[in-house]
Amino acid sequence: MRLPTLSGLILSAACLAAAEDGAQIYNTLCIACHGPDGKGANGLPPLVGSEWPKGQPERAIKIVINGLTGPVEVAGKAYNIEMPPQGAVLNDEKIAAALTYVRKTFVRGESAVTVDQVKAVRAAVADRTKPWTADELLKAHPFPPAKTALKNLVGSVYKGEWTVMPDFATLKPAQIEDENAGIVSPNQSGLKKNYAMVWEGQFHAPVDGKYTFTFDCDDFGALYLGGKKIAEIKGIGPIGSRAKQATVELKQGDNAFRLEYVQAAGEQVIVLGWKGPKDRDVKWLSDTKSGKAAGPKWPSIAIQPHDGYTAVYRNFIQGTTPRGIGFGFPNGMNLAFSADNLAVELMWSGRFMDGGHHWTDRGQGFEPPAGEGVIKLSGTSGILSSVEATDLIGKYRGYELDRQGNPTFKVVAGGDTLTDAWLPGEHNLSRTLTLQGDKPLVVLLERNLEAVAKEDGKVLEIGGRLLLTPSLPQALKVQGTAVYLTLNPGESITLGYSFR
Ligand code: HEC
Repeated sequence: MRLPTLSGLILSAACLAAAEDGAQIYNTLCIACHGPDGKGANGLPPLVGSEWPKGQPERAIKIVINGLTGPVEVAGKAYNIEMPPQGAVLNDEKIAAALTYVRKTFVRGESAVTVDQVKAVRAAVADRTKPWTADELLKAHPFPPAKTALKNLVGSVYKGEWTVMPDFATLKPAQIEDENAGIVSPNQSGLKKNYAMVWEGQFHAPVDGKYTFTFDCDDFGALYLGGKKIAEIKGIGPIGSRAKQATVELKQGDNAFRLEYVQAAGEQVIVLGWKGPKDRDVKWLSDTKSGKAAGPKWPSIAIQPHDGYTAVYRNFIQGTTPRGIGFGFPNGMNLAFSADNLAVELMWSGRFMDGGHHWTDRGQGFEPPAGEGVIKLSGTSGILSSVEATDLIGKYRGYELDRQGNPTFKVVAGGDTLTDAWLPGEHNLSRTLTLQGDKPLVVLLERNLEAVAKEDGKVLEIGGRLLLTPSLPQALKVQGTAVYLTLNPGESITLGYSFR
């Protein structure tokens, strides 16, 4: 073991003293107004959630020395009260210690404030007698740009009326501005209707890998990454049922970002989020943070399986057809079957559905699955006469539930009957497809996502997340981004589905 050096010991002792000192100064001088927890006392502004003590410390040092007066926005709320100057009561050491305490305790992740920094500010503002105004401080010490993945973002506004995406190269922007906050918002246009806006900058990918972007807007728009269009919403309409998810492979570093947006009239909304290869939650690049934010508010009614019974949702589910039926299994896996396309079109994990929307507002609009990471398997005919065919064959004959509420779908095609039974395991779903009749049938298992064979072809990895384990691997055929299963009369094939 190496012993700490003497200077190291002295240094850490000094730091400790400074930190204790800071707490004591705060608890003597600031606590009455900013509260013991930094959340503000008696209607005075908080330090928790505030931008003001963040970044370069000069701004906060000035506030403590000379005070602050006039309108100020703190953590999204407006205040207009006066903070008296503290510069006469507190020497440079004490101001440094108090602000270090504030930055370590209430703001977090910010550097300590040094005595030299306070000294320098005090010398520079020696002539100042009045408290600062928020505007003065922001001019001299603007807030640092928000740390989103979007860098050097520039927004251009175009005026006009469009029903399809215009060719922006032929248009002249009415206004161009830096969007330092790193988010895209229709509010940045300053307009309410009949305009288009284009944002350009770089998306900074923290690591190499697959990135999933969630995009939706009212009215229409297109999202580009690395110079390629990855998602588009066409025509005039609200957010919700047209939301897109796109997965792209990105290299670590800056990738060209472009978003085109057209607002005709009515609501103006952009929803944009992303998830990197290591993320569980979506990070938002828009001020609207989910497809539902701009719509009417419904009380949330969680619909979940319970007591080991599978839950059923029979109402409009976003991402599948009007005759979509959702099943939420007790092991946390969920699916939506389209009775129009005779196919399982969506799978997701976690929360099943929120019934609030359709309970309050029956039949109006589609409700997205409540869980995260919805996989869209297909959206076209699920039962075909051959791998080459695209026309749907067969008729929906409903489903039966077993005693635990697990479904077996039934489809009839000519003289053939196909049953499709789903059962939850510990971490997976097992699906048994059985064909009775005299002709083979093709079941489209998915057609949107890349399917990669793993473990000598025994497992297919779909869209990087869903693992498919067939009892008879040779019955499966991967063609482009589609996976087909051919069933012969009298045959029964079981497929295991699980999420990575
Ligand atoms: C007498 C009450 C009072 C005391 C004591 C006081 N403040 Fe303030 N402080 C305020 C008020 C009021 C504002 C907002 C002023 C305005 O509305 O213009 C403010 C604003 C601030 C701000 C910027 C806005 C924010 O909430 O982030 C900081 C930083 C701050 N004070 C730090 C301190 C520190 C550190 C101390 C102790 C050294 C302290 N204040 C002592 C009342 C006080």
